[in-house]
Amino acid sequence: MTVNRTSRIPGFYKLDMAARHAALRRATGLSAQDLAALTTDSALDLAAADPMIENVVGTHNLPLGVALNFIVNGREVIVPMAIEEPSVVAGASFMAKLARPAGGFTATTTAPEMIGQLQLLDFTDLDAATVAIEAAAPELLQDAAQIDPVLQKLGGGPRELVIRRIEESPIGPFLVLHLIYDVRDAMGANAVNTACERIAPQIQALTGGRVHLRILSNLADRRLATARCTIQLEQLAFGEFPAEKVRDGIVEAWAFAAADPYRAATHNKGIMNGVDSVVIATGNDWRAVEAGAHAYAAREGHYTSLSTWGVDDSGNLVGELTMPMAVGTVGGATRVHPTAQAALKLMGVDTAAELAEIIVSVGLAQNLAALRALATEGIQRGHMSLHARQVAIAAGASGDQVEALAQRLVQDQAVRVDRAEELLKEWNA
Ligand code: MEV
Repeated sequence: MTVNRTSRIPGFYKLDMAARHAALRRATGLSAQDLAALTTDSALDLAAADPMIENVVGTHNLPLGVALNFIVNGREVIVPMAIEEPSVVAGASFMAKLARPAGGFTATTTAPEMIGQLQLLDFTDLDAATVAIEAAAPELLQDAAQIDPVLQKLGGGPRELVIRRIEESPIGPFLVLHLIYDVRDAMGANAVNTACERIAPQIQALTGGRVHLRILSNLADRRLATARCTIQLEQLAFGEFPAEKVRDGIVEAWAFAAADPYRAATHNKGIMNGVDSVVIATGNDWRAVEAGAHAYAAREGHYTSLSTWGVDDSGNLVGELTMPMAVGTVGGATRVHPTAQAALKLMGVDTAAELAEIIVSVGLAQNLAALRALATEGIQRGHMSLHARQVAIAAGASGDQVEALAQRLVQDQAVRVDRAEELLKEWNA
């Protein structure tokens, strides 16, 4: 098989399933075995699922689509997305196409540093406790390094101790110790939690206080991923909408989210449509990424947009998204779930940083898809035609009838199961 590495596969959505699979292999070089892990609904069999959680009785499937057209840091990448919502994969793919003429997405990450928290209570003297911890920091860090020699060998390990004082709380003032831990390509929760528990007895002995909670913080604001893109002005015109109007409408839509938390929640939900679906496809902890995203969005004391949109000197639209990205490529479900493994191979991703860079790029593309639709024709037109297919299937349509019924429902502006059932009855009478 000749591999022509690209994320551009025109007409992909029109191909039948077997042709899509073949096109995917040609565009990525994915092995037959990895393709099977991505495309078979029983890829995670019961024997593999059983030890993952408790009381296993089955597995739960989601549609897995691929976002096309992405270029991230100069590399063509086809992105797997696991999600139940229509329009998301199409939206990301289309915006990635608009970004291509200016080079696609450029993305960066900070060091993969996670934060572990120790809550320190029952002190008589907060200042003395602070001084004692600071003095013992080198030994404490050395001890925390012992929990994972492999991580240490790979260049990870504890980096720093940061002491914070919580002045006001329902139980009065107390101290919080942050253990900063470089977790390399892991998500890192296990390493950080183990390290926190390891140093807790020494902290108690040093300070005479009581260490209460010892747990990772999901506000991973030292492990950030940023994506940027430029959409050339002429890419933005469509239908009756001139490019300037679309561009300015997108900036106005972003300004709404920047200023208003009610809008920001929805705006960021749109970003997370893209982010979560790649996080899930790769077997990562999407609740951790969600928690980090929203806490980060509120970091300045008010909840706001995670992204920014503006206009550059040439009149092009420019977007940027920065958010915490605690994802890994080793450990946990990323290792044991065959589909997650194949998803990483599909993208040609080895490191957590590369994965984070792709995820944040998809988040930015998804945000643009929503803003472009909202600022022009509204979200429902595109959404409804896809939703109509689901309604048609729910009403019992199959084969060619699915598309025909969906079109009719949209045309009649009655995308409802009862109407779909009525039409089917008429057609099949
Ligand atoms: C729907 O899943 C997501 C949107 O509401 C996002 C947005 O409003 O920006 C369309």
